[in-house]
Amino acid sequence: MYRVSFVGLGPVGLCTAVCFATKDIAVIGSEMDTAKVKQIKSINPPFYEPNLKELLHKAIRSGNLKIVTNNEEAVLKSDITFITVGTPSNRDGSISLQYVIEASEEIGKALKKKTAVHLVAIKSTVTAGTTLNIVKPILEKNSEKKCGKDFFLCVNPEFLSEGNAIKGTFNPDYIVIGGYNEKSAETLENLYKDFHKENLPPILKTNIPTAELIKYANNTFLATKISLINTIANICEKTPGADVTKVAEAIGKDHRINPYFLNAGLGWGGSCFPKDLKAFIAYSKKLGYNPTLIQAAYKANQDQVKFTIEKVKDNLKTLKGKKIAILGLAFKPNTDDIREARSLKIISQLLKQGAIVTAYDPMATANVKKILKKRINYASSAIECLRNADCAILVTEWEEFKKLKPKDFAENMRKPILIDSRRIYDYEKFSKRLRYIAVGLGEPLKPQP
Ligand code: UDX
Repeated sequence: MYRVSFVGLGPVGLCTAVCFATKDIAVIGSEMDTAKVKQIKSINPPFYEPNLKELLHKAIRSGNLKIVTNNEEAVLKSDITFITVGTPSNRDGSISLQYVIEASEEIGKALKKKTAVHLVAIKSTVTAGTTLNIVKPILEKNSEKKCGKDFFLCVNPEFLSEGNAIKGTFNPDYIVIGGYNEKSAETLENLYKDFHKENLPPILKTNIPTAELIKYANNTFLATKISLINTIANICEKTPGADVTKVAEAIGKDHRINPYFLNAGLGWGGSCFPKDLKAFIAYSKKLGYNPTLIQAAYKANQDQVKFTIEKVKDNLKTLKGKKIAILGLAFKPNTDDIREARSLKIISQLLKQGAIVTAYDPMATANVKKILKKRINYASSAIECLRNADCAILVTEWEEFKKLKPKDFAENMRKPILIDSRRIYDYEKFSKRLRYIAVGLGEPLKPQP
């Protein structure tokens, strides 16, 4: 059985490391952020992910997972090293490879001290060409060894979504292995055979640039799919009687479309879609190609926030001095992550136009407080958030919000106007007690003669 190490213990690195360790694989996780390491070692994951805490406990207690702050030690004591550091955006939207470069230098130096053949596998999202043109030369220079002969190299993108990272690691739809040569790919394939045993998912072996590109293609496809259903939602809103949820339900039955990622709303956020689309656009432009469809998907996503603000203004005339309740701050339910959350974009527009904002989220309030501080009010329950508001915007579709009744809005708000940006409420019930405006829902159809 191979021994495995991870350089970078963010959501991808830590979740994957923990899952490997629970399958009796010896794992070393290396992370430079000492505060994070302290949290991980005391079984207190630095971010929320269902089941992570329990599995982390199991992995550390069994001795299968060791946490270090030393990339060299991680490489020397393992056979395969995954690079799982972050690849944030530069100011112009292009990808920043700073952490990948630093990790590659250190791994290269450690490889110099090794006699056994080691595999380096890149899980960090990197644009096509990065591994062959940047990582490989750095590894070769620092190790003074030859790729493909003295050490192996693969690109192995991950497709984990937050809230589903553990389940997704144990049961991925597919695995992509972009191998530098046959031996590189075979080594990683063997690791996955040990990990998944009889439940081995389909493995697609490609060359390195194709594997790098697959990750961007996957995210771009999903984000564009959401932007498309949001565009259809906007057209529905202008069509009396039309309802995007019915449209999505119908077209989702076409197996060529499928029902997933067809929930219209106020756009996509999170740590991947916005960053990866920007990086993919910048990458394409660098090649002299304008990816107009991807640019349009990105622009449509920004517009969705603008349209939501317009709905509030249409109903309140002006935002100046108006009290707006924001239900939901996390970029999606079941996470405290607020990276690129639509809530922040909406709040920033509301504040700019003079509104007074009160927000409530079951998990993400503390993170928003760090950014917005006293610029908005924070409620400790949905009802408290609604109290005396002139308009409420449902931003994140938490289960808790689905339980709210029309009377909760009608009896607590100053003016019961609700903008349901995620389509969680029933029009028939809610429109009886309040002004109910929902994404993708046209004005009611007039009775036909
Ligand atoms: C995504 C990809 O799903 C994952 O494969 C990749 O590795 C990282 O990026 P994640 O960002 O965790 O994962 O969340 P996801 O569930 O994909 O949702 C992204 C955004 O799209 C959220 O803001 C969500 O609210 C929005 N969304 C999703 C919709 O608006 N409608 C949908 O139907 C689905």
